[in-house]
Amino acid sequence: MSVGTWTMGGDASAWGRVDDNESIATLERALDLGVNLIDTAPSYGAGHAEEIVGKVIHERRESVLVATKCGLLPSDKSYTLGERYLTRERIIRECEASLRRLRTDYIDVYQCHWPDPQTPISETMLALRLLLEQGKIRALGLSNYSCEQVAAAMEFGPVHSLQPTFSLLQRRAAEDLLPFCAEHNIAALACDTLARGLLTGKLTEDSRIMGVRAADPEFIGARYRRNLERVAKLARIAVNYGKTVAQLAIHWVIRHPGVTSAVVGAERPSQIVENAGAVGWTLDPEDLTSIETLMAGP
Ligand SMILES: NC(=O)c1ccc[n+]([C@@H]2O[C@H](COP(=O)([O-])OP(=O)(O)OC[C@H]3O[C@@H](n4cnc5c(N)ncnc54)[C@H](OP(=O)(O)O)[C@@H]3O)[C@@H](O)[C@H]2O)c1
Repeated sequence: MSVGTWTMGGDASAWGRVDDNESIATLERALDLGVNLIDTAPSYGAGHAEEIVGKVIHERRESVLVATKCGLLPSDKSYTLGERYLTRERIIRECEASLRRLRTDYIDVYQCHWPDPQTPISETMLALRLLLEQGKIRALGLSNYSCEQVAAAMEFGPVHSLQPTFSLLQRRAAEDLLPFCAEHNIAALACDTLARGLLTGKLTEDSRIMGVRAADPEFIGARYRRNLERVAKLARIAVNYGKTVAQLAIHWVIRHPGVTSAVVGAERPSQIVENAGAVGWTLDPEDLTSIETLMAGP
């Protein structure tokens, strides 16, 4: 399991207020529990999340993998997508800035955050290959790319990882991206595993939904109510294993063929402790079938 840091950027309009000390304690707890990859990005709080990660990994760099990203400007509203820039000049400059904020001289996985339709993929890939040759990055990843876009990138260099959205509520990657990754030996870092907290069972029809979540169709109207009903049924399956619905949801992603790791966000140490309980047990085949039936349909 990996830990994500989107919320740790500290943008209250996107995620509500997040305390830096709590973010640091959360990441430290994650590493203590054996989580060995932290996913971040310059667009999370305009570099602030990377600075938090830098503080945490400084003393234990050898034992943790750091994945960050490039090519997406922070938006003035974090729940809308910022502008995309994957030019050579921009990538080289962004990489230097990330290395500084992360207080390291190499990035384990460097990912293009979103495809940039304005820049030829050949230019993007050549810039990333240069960083690989210089040892500033150790693996090259893509995030939010389609199979066709990944295949186009592979014409110009290696693609070591892909970061697709994948959860019990967003299962499309199982149809195309995950089989593609398995076929081409690309690591799949599934993100949004808890559907932004919806799959934790803590939300109700009366919960106040704000920021990033308020702009997500899964949190709106009839679809939201249907999701809450499904989560309640998932919780009844989880309880037979002595597990929470969050643990079941993460477990389901991690065990899915083609998934290398699940990138799970957390805002406090207690959440990491709970989420770590997603590993070390197995769902019975009958329950996997029940879950498929429950989650099938629009
Ligand atoms: N490449 C991309 O474009 C992209 C897109 C999305 C995400 N990501 C990466 O994936 C990571 C995870 O995605 P995400 O943060 O959007 O969503 P997520 O992992 O589905 O949900 C994380 C949120 O759920 C809540 N939560 C987590 N564990 C919990 C628990 N045990 N009990 C109760 N609530 C819990 C926390 O929020 P509250 O406490 O506020 O409820 C937490 O911030 C991000 O941090 C980022 O690194 C990448």
